[in-house]
Amino acid sequence: MSRYEELRGSLPSTPLRWVVTGGAGFIGSHLADALLALGQSVVVLDNFLTGRESNLEAACRHSFGQDPSFRLLKGDIRDMEQCREACRGADVVLHHAALVSVPRSFQEPHMNNSCNITGFLNMLTAAQDAGVRSFVFASSAAVYGRQPEGPIGEDAPLGPLSPYAVAKQANELYASVLSGGMRATGLRYMNVFGPRQDPGSPYSGVISIWSRCLLEGKTPVVNGDGKTTRDFIYVDDVVQANILAALREDPKGGASLFNIGTGRAVSLIELLSALLAASGKAGEGVEPRYEPEREGDIRHSQADITLAKSLLGFEPRYTLEEGLARTVGSMRP
Ligand SMILES: NC(=O)c1ccc[n+]([C@@H]2O[C@H](COP(=O)([O-])OP(=O)(O)OC[C@H]3O[C@@H](n4cnc5c(N)ncnc54)[C@H](O)[C@@H]3O)[C@@H](O)[C@H]2O)c1
Repeated sequence: MSRYEELRGSLPSTPLRWVVTGGAGFIGSHLADALLALGQSVVVLDNFLTGRESNLEAACRHSFGQDPSFRLLKGDIRDMEQCREACRGADVVLHHAALVSVPRSFQEPHMNNSCNITGFLNMLTAAQDAGVRSFVFASSAAVYGRQPEGPIGEDAPLGPLSPYAVAKQANELYASVLSGGMRATGLRYMNVFGPRQDPGSPYSGVISIWSRCLLEGKTPVVNGDGKTTRDFIYVDDVVQANILAALREDPKGGASLFNIGTGRAVSLIELLSALLAASGKAGEGVEPRYEPEREGDIRHSQADITLAKSLLGFEPRYTLEEGLARTVGSMRP
C-alpha cells in the first residue's frame, strides 16, 4: 500500500483542521474538496481576486449544521489580522493564495510584492504564532528560470526571470530561516492542469485554453515551433503531494523543497495530439496555427521528482491522457 493510500485510510478517523489560502482558486478548491471528502475540517481564506464562488460549491455543502467542517473567510493575506483569524486552532496550513500571473507581476510589481511576499510572510508568521504543526506552500518551477534540457533537480541553480518567480524564491528563503519549530515545506509545481483551471486569460495553462478552443471548434494556437516541452501534472496528484508533505514524518523539521511534476517532458505537439484524442477530434484533421514564440517563454521544463518520491512517498497516479480526459470532460456543456 502506498503512503498516500495509508494516509487516506487513516485520516478520516483523525480529523485535523486545515487552512487553505487561495482555496477559491483552481488548485486550492481541489485541496478543499479532497480534504473535506476525507472528513477533515477546512478553513478557506481567499479574497476572490482570481478565485470563484462556483469552485467552492461542493465545499459549501459542508458549511451547515452545528459543527460545520467547512468555513469560508472572505479576506486577504495582506491583512495580518485575517491571517491570524484563519490560523486560529489550525493544525496544517496549505498556502496557495497568490497573484499567479507572470505578466501581471511585471505590470504590477508592488501588488506582486504585497500578495506574494508580504502576504506569504503574514501567513508564515501567523501560522507559527498559532502553533500550526505543518506549513506547506506553493512554490513554482519558475524559480529555476532557463535550464538546459533534461530533468531539473532541486539543487539546480536558480534564475528567476520575473517578479513572480522572485517572490516564490523569497518565500523559500523566508521559510528556511523563519519557520522556527513549525515544519515548512515548499512544493515547486511544474505545469498543473485539471478541471476549474480558468481558460479566460491568454496566460492561463495551455491545456485549459486549447481544451476550450477544441470544444468550441476554434483553431488552437501554438506559440513557437511546438517543440517546447513542459512537465504537465494533473491537479489530483498535486493534492496528493500536499497531503503527503503536510503529514510527513520527519523529525528534522525546518524547511524543505520538492519538485512536484511527473518527470515526463511533453512537447506542445505531443500535447495537442493527446488533447485531440481526449476530445474525440483525433480524426478530424484539426491543424494548429503557429505564431511566434512568446517573449520570455522558457524552452524546456521537466522535473526530477526523485526527492519527492523517496522522502514523501509521492507517486503521480494520473497519466497525461487520463488527466486530459477528465479535464475535457469537465468542460463539456
Ligand atoms: N497552476 C499552476 O500551474 C501553478 C504552477 C506553479 C505554482 N502555482 C502556485 O499555486 C498556487 C495556486 O495557483 P492556482 O493555479 O490555483 O491559481 P488561482 O489564481 O486559481 O488561485 C489563487 C487564489 O489565490 C487568491 N488570492 C490571490 N491574492 C490573494 C490575497 N491577497 N488574499 C487572499 N487570496 C488571494 C485568488 O483569489 C485565487 O483564489 C499559487 O500560489 C501559484 O503561484 C500554480
